[in-house]
Amino acid sequence: MPAQRTPPRSFVGSDWHGRAPGRVNLIGEHVDYLGGLVLPAAVDRFTEVWARPAPEWSIESDVPGGLGYVKAIGEELRADPHAVQVTSQVPPNAGISSSAALLVALAAAIRPDMDGKQAALACQRAEQKATGVQVGVMDQFAAALGRRGSALLLDCATLEYQVVPFPDEVAIAVIDSGEHRSLASTPYNQRRREAESGDPKRRKHVDSEIQRVRVFAQALHDRNFTRMGELLKESHQSLRDDFEVSTPNVDALVERAWSADGCYGARIMGAGFGGSILALVDKHRTESLAAAVDRPVLFCATADGAFVRTQ
Ligand code: GLA
Repeated sequence: MPAQRTPPRSFVGSDWHGRAPGRVNLIGEHVDYLGGLVLPAAVDRFTEVWARPAPEWSIESDVPGGLGYVKAIGEELRADPHAVQVTSQVPPNAGISSSAALLVALAAAIRPDMDGKQAALACQRAEQKATGVQVGVMDQFAAALGRRGSALLLDCATLEYQVVPFPDEVAIAVIDSGEHRSLASTPYNQRRREAESGDPKRRKHVDSEIQRVRVFAQALHDRNFTRMGELLKESHQSLRDDFEVSTPNVDALVERAWSADGCYGARIMGAGFGGSILALVDKHRTESLAAAVDRPVLFCATADGAFVRTQ
């Protein structure tokens, strides 16, 4: 568990505390709910929660729909009502899973000794219940069990995973497209149904994306950054043309990132329909990326998930 910080004054003596990171997904988009392979990493932006017993659930936070999340995970873990206070460095609706960070931080506060995989599954169910969006398990898994210095190669069918070292000299950039949305207002569930029912165009994305995850993991292992970048580009094209979850604004942003000196590759990240893009860039040339995209960029390092036991 990371060192406990000082709780907000009104929560001194509170009985719960938990902290969980946001996540990026290097590659493997819209395949988790089909039992595919994904390669996310937890990143060094954290949501922290404190709580104390109260007659009913409440939350102080700017995460949209926060009370629904708190009640849903409380119900999943059969916890008594608490007043919850949140501080977060994970921006909402920007594509790095503020909701998973909140849910996993709450799970870590309520049941710190829980198995990380079970916690991720409980948080996935809570997210589905709170929003009605039939999300996969990737975001919650990364927030629970991501590792500092690494990405997780996760098989969403079995929840088996391998830790793949992530190179120090590559910076992870998350670029906010400015098109913010909550997943409940997007056709996420519709895409899921189309893919599950075997629509050929959607399946083309899913099958090719899973193959790209395998090749990317090998390229990461071989430190072949150019190959990794090519795969990001192919992933974007597939998400844009076959899965149809990009937007013209996001496509333009991705193309600006591709053109930046020192950028290995970029693509839309997460559910899509706006949100953020991911770019991998030479650590010494981050400024040229920031100048090329002309949008707020969050440079992240990998981090430990909330349920990683470090000693
Ligand atoms: C959202 C969901 C994830 C996953 C991605 C797309 O982030 O929460 O489960 O489906 O979209 O890869």
